[in-house]
Amino acid sequence: MPVIAVVGAQWGDEGKGRVVDYLTATGGRDGGPVDMVIRYQGGDNAGHTVVNALGEFRLHLVPSGIFSPPTRCVIGTGCVVNPETLIEEMDSLSAVGLSLDNLYISSRAHLTLPHHRQLDGLEERIRGGKALGTTQKGIGPTYSDKAARWGLRVGDLLRIEQVRDRLANHIACKNQLIQAWGGDPVDLEALLEQCVRWRQRLAPHIVDTLPLTHAALQADHTILLEGQLGVMRDLDWGAYPYVTSSNPLASYGLVGAGLPARAIDRVIGVVKAYVTAVGAGPLPTELHDEVGEALRCIGQEYGATTGRPRRCGWLDAVALEYAHWLNGFTELVITKLDVLDRFAEIKICVGYRLPSGEEIAHMPDPATLDEVTPIYETWLGWCCDTSGARSWEDLPLAARRYVQRIQELVGVPVRWVSVGKEREAIIPVGVGA
Ligand code: GDP
Ligand code: IMO
Ligand code: MG
Repeated sequence: MPVIAVVGAQWGDEGKGRVVDYLTATGGRDGGPVDMVIRYQGGDNAGHTVVNALGEFRLHLVPSGIFSPPTRCVIGTGCVVNPETLIEEMDSLSAVGLSLDNLYISSRAHLTLPHHRQLDGLEERIRGGKALGTTQKGIGPTYSDKAARWGLRVGDLLRIEQVRDRLANHIACKNQLIQAWGGDPVDLEALLEQCVRWRQRLAPHIVDTLPLTHAALQADHTILLEGQLGVMRDLDWGAYPYVTSSNPLASYGLVGAGLPARAIDRVIGVVKAYVTAVGAGPLPTELHDEVGEALRCIGQEYGATTGRPRRCGWLDAVALEYAHWLNGFTELVITKLDVLDRFAEIKICVGYRLPSGEEIAHMPDPATLDEVTPIYETWLGWCCDTSGARSWEDLPLAARRYVQRIQELVGVPVRWVSVGKEREAIIPVGVGA
């Protein structure tokens, strides 16, 4: 079954959106058409940058296949949807002439409402010095309500009058919390009016996605699953509590998209050629020196959603191996190789030293990562401009060696490398690389 998951292998912002855009435009399997792209988790905490002939876009909820009609784009059941930001995003895409006829929103996805955002901010304030550094998009409070069975789903917009009592009950409860924490209580009537407005705009896109995905599978169509964030911020497998409230792992793609357990046949791990993270939590290879500053400056490492400076450091192969163990990558794509062009020396973390002095080669519980010191191997840089490279052979030998070393360390073939933001800057890696 040609289902291909595209997942972040690090701390997010690896370039998932542009990889999905590339695969959708050029063919996910043997150059064939991609029928459907499904975002399977997360919400508008995502910032997926896509650069193509239509311009530069930062997608938060709309799947990154939207630029290649007639590919159908589905915001899946595992997602949380803020209708306000979704409508803004849809407007900005319509403004450049894109058709949204192929955009579908799962009626089972949960709604992020204004009070979820407010609660995200209030919770962060209460955490004080231990704040998680969330995107403050209301992601945690929405998924909490989903799990606690307080949540409203996208399909509820279609029958908002019938669920009025449930919403009233929910808001009464949340308002107690908001007021206790010094926030602004929600006005139920104003929220209901907003829901009616959202319904008018979104109703044509709200569907039961299961018949769609089932039919695509039956017809042997190619489906791409677009992940949000990366393994190290996975709710269960990341550095808890410095994680998001959903599971970026490929295996959750099945649940979030509504696919049977055996459906996925390829898992593409998207790997940035170094590491970055936004928000708090351990990042063993983080550089607090001029090298880290240079990575941020050359790589333009500022959050696509919040604009926050990203924390930067050398590639962490221990984290990549962990990501592979959890995702079962069939191939990797390495992005932002060009950002390393100017470094005379490039390091890769190949193990950690514990406070006791013991050296380990594999990931401990990531929650303990703030206690480890990275063990590096050092590679000579290539010190030349790779941004114009358009084939594997165009890359300098040292750059190819760096890519081969990553392949060796993770034990997964690197199928593409990328040396720029544009679609054409993704280079297939030659056989025998
Ligand atoms: P995502 O969240 O995983 O989709 O990634 P983001 O869009 O948040 O962050 C990736 C950033 O790197 C974006 O600004 C991209 O335009 C940029 N980018 C992606 N691949 C490359 C590359 O190969 N080279 C360069 N220089 N920039 C890239
Ligand atoms: P994409 O899909 C990078 C981080 C936040 C914070 C933690 C929890 O563009 O890779 P949340 O708002 O989800 O409750 O925040 O996760 N975070 C991201 N970091 N890229 C993202 O998305 C992120 N989405 C959330 O900074 O540390
Ligand atoms: Mg991003």
